[in-house]
Amino acid sequence: MAEAAGTGAGAVLLVTGGCGFIGSNFVRWWLENVPGTRVVVYDKLTYAGRRENLAELWDRPDLHLMVGDIADLARVRRTCLEERVTTLVNFAAESHVDQSIAAPLLFTDTNVRGTHALLEVARELGLRFHQVSTDEVYGDVPAGERRAEGDPLAPRSPYAASKAAADHLALAYHATYALAVTVTRGSNTVGPYQYPEKVLPLFATSVLRGEPLPLYGDGLQQRDYMHVRDHCAAIAAVLRSGQPGEVYNVGTGTELTNLDLACAVLDTLGGDRGLIRHVGDRPGHDRRYAVATGKVRALGWLCRFTPIQAVTEAARWYAENGWWWRPIREGDFREYYRRQYAERLTQPGKPEGEP
Ligand code: NAD
Ligand code: DAU
Repeated sequence: MAEAAGTGAGAVLLVTGGCGFIGSNFVRWWLENVPGTRVVVYDKLTYAGRRENLAELWDRPDLHLMVGDIADLARVRRTCLEERVTTLVNFAAESHVDQSIAAPLLFTDTNVRGTHALLEVARELGLRFHQVSTDEVYGDVPAGERRAEGDPLAPRSPYAASKAAADHLALAYHATYALAVTVTRGSNTVGPYQYPEKVLPLFATSVLRGEPLPLYGDGLQQRDYMHVRDHCAAIAAVLRSGQPGEVYNVGTGTELTNLDLACAVLDTLGGDRGLIRHVGDRPGHDRRYAVATGKVRALGWLCRFTPIQAVTEAARWYAENGWWWRPIREGDFREYYRRQYAERLTQPGKPEGEP
């Protein structure tokens, strides 16, 4: 397949949010699989962005870290010029729905204004631009339906609304300025280096600490849990052969309930089902996300992990990598956990069907 301009040998990628969960996995995937290119990670190093996510790679001559905010247009422009960037891949975001419910304005600053600043730099310098988006922009999807790329967006959380706004801006820059933009809308992703605010690492590390798993509401909400390496390979496929101006959904194509996920984590790590606690639900909680993925598969992308395999593999990583998550759970995560769960866990909710 022909390589799109800006991603073949000699390409220089600016990977924003490259110290976060998916961004760091993408950098590792890219350096393993695409020789002859260079990667500049541009990251604000928020609580979710951690240098140690790429610990073993920082000595490489083809990898460089620049600390900065994506909303700082002058700094982004200077970095792109100094590093001779050809391609901008935007992972940087505030990414957690619960945090967006508690403090939504930061989500507009980073996810909307920050993405807009990146688009302006890409327009000025003629860069290839890829926006990493989410299946949450389609909102709640009724049973039996699946959202395709042309379907209307109906986001229902401040996080999802900010990501939908960013998608619209990116696609508008293609229509108006002919900027070479692609967008991927990925499903719930699991794997190494995911901050423990998200359900999989929260549940895995809680089992390993002998603590309860706070399952929101009845636990029958459905998500398409995908392994991060599959997500990274899909983004690379779109960078290589996606069409400018096009959106590509990414997911396994099957869903699990959160209760299934909790049971799979417990079974993998030898935890007791009694650790599951039904707690008060998330406000505006979407029951189901489900996307049609034929378009990205037509580019040659193959999803290697089923949701159960992805969840099992990810849970095992936390069992083997306490060096990574224990300092987080015992450090800056404690205050968040107290705010988010202390009260909920003392006033348990009820599983479906109970009076
Ligand atoms: P994450 O929260 O783990 O990482 C976000 C990264 O962005 C961190 O390194 C953080 O320091 C950085 N960042 C935040 N604000 C910044 C700013 N203003 N300037 C520069 N850097 C900043 O997120 P993630 O789960 O890896 O998600 C990455 C992207 O993928 C996001 O855009 C998210 O919307 C999208 N996505 C995530 C999932 C998922 O399940 N995690 C699924 C689909 C799409
Ligand atoms: O669908 C893609 C999205 O997946 C990404 O865009 C987001 O960045 C990512 O955070 C994720 O969003 P979710 O809200 O689906 O993920 P989270 O891990 O927060 O929750 C997954 C499901 O688990 C959701 O139905 C809520 C439930 N949950 C979550 C937490 C944190 C619980 O039952 N208990 C919890 O403590």
